[in-house]
Amino acid sequence: MIHITPLDAQLSAELDALKQAGTYKALRTISSPMDTSVSMEGRDNILILSANNYLGLANHPQVIQAGKDALDAYGAGTASVRFICGTFTIHAQLEAALAGLHRTGAAITYPSCWQANTGIIPALTGEQDVIIADALNHASLIDGCRMSKARRMIYKHADMDELKTKLIEAQGARRILVVTDGVFSMEGSIAPLPEIVSLCKEFGATLMMDDCHGVGAIGEYGRGTAEYFGLEGEVDIISGTLGKALGGAAGGYICASQPIIDMLHQISRPQLFSNALPATVAASSLKAIEILNNEPQRLVRLREVVRQLREGLTALGFNPLEGNSAIIPIIIGETADAIAMSKKLLEQGIFITGFGFPVVPEGAARLRIQACATLTDAQIDRALDAFAAVKKK
Ligand SMILES: Cc1ncc(COP(=O)(O)O)c(C=O)c1O
Repeated sequence: MIHITPLDAQLSAELDALKQAGTYKALRTISSPMDTSVSMEGRDNILILSANNYLGLANHPQVIQAGKDALDAYGAGTASVRFICGTFTIHAQLEAALAGLHRTGAAITYPSCWQANTGIIPALTGEQDVIIADALNHASLIDGCRMSKARRMIYKHADMDELKTKLIEAQGARRILVVTDGVFSMEGSIAPLPEIVSLCKEFGATLMMDDCHGVGAIGEYGRGTAEYFGLEGEVDIISGTLGKALGGAAGGYICASQPIIDMLHQISRPQLFSNALPATVAASSLKAIEILNNEPQRLVRLREVVRQLREGLTALGFNPLEGNSAIIPIIIGETADAIAMSKKLLEQGIFITGFGFPVVPEGAARLRIQACATLTDAQIDRALDAFAAVKKK
């Protein structure tokens, strides 16, 4: 018999409350590869508009084959952290490709961008330092900042006057680290990078940008926010993920100067105390970067898909938040309403997650539509028809 502890009973009551409020997050199980259309819980041909699969590479034959070849070449994994005996040649190849992609001197991979963000910020900053962060930064950046002993300051989302005020206040610190997303994951907005770069230069601050939703999504060639603004090589530290446009498996990285990367190998705790990125994932991501570099037409198509979705949704009377990224959020308001609308869309065969508190602020629950370069015109029409049907109801 299963023993119910007092903690289980407490948690069950809390979970029931979430269910009652309509804010419980139910997992949807997919039984086919991630693609624009998947098999979900016994239903085929469910259109996915909620994946970070911006370039449609998660199910690309070459990306899959590269992973299989790496499995043959390297086995299941390193059975070690990087500095002990967990560095395979494929890690070095991938890191060289990432440094090339972001035009930085060097790169280091982690098993996730969560680990990269929480692994670098406390490694580079301490009691004598100041971190200045955008209020809407991703949770992994927020946690990374919290893990540091540095003094923390927050500026209102994209408010450059406030950033300047904080930079003035921070003068005298040993190091000042400004931390921002490139593309903000829940808003789809793009950071005002030219102003941020110039303020950081003026006040001697180091700039770290998380570009998980920028890479493979914006910039003419998909090199992300720095490319979008013509500022490649101007951001000191770029963190990114291999779990979105670059293959979609998992994995994260930091691109920065050689001294920063060398120091992370010495002291970044997830590097020292956690296993290396699996070789299969490294190989798939390396192939994804090659495809990104060789097939700029995927970016052209992605921009076209975003345009069609934005125009179609606006014509139907929805008001997506403004933006130029591949993220198209529609604010619904209450969490329960966003989840209910997501369920109604699923009845129509369209999967779009409803996001509510605590992922976004209370009262700002939303549907977050994410474009994919391999969505066909017919699939886009089908999605818009579903939105029209749900609106009518
Ligand atoms: C902006 C941003 N940073 C970091 C992460 C974490 O990435 P990973 O899944 O590689 O840990 C995410 C994932 O949702 C993200 O959206």
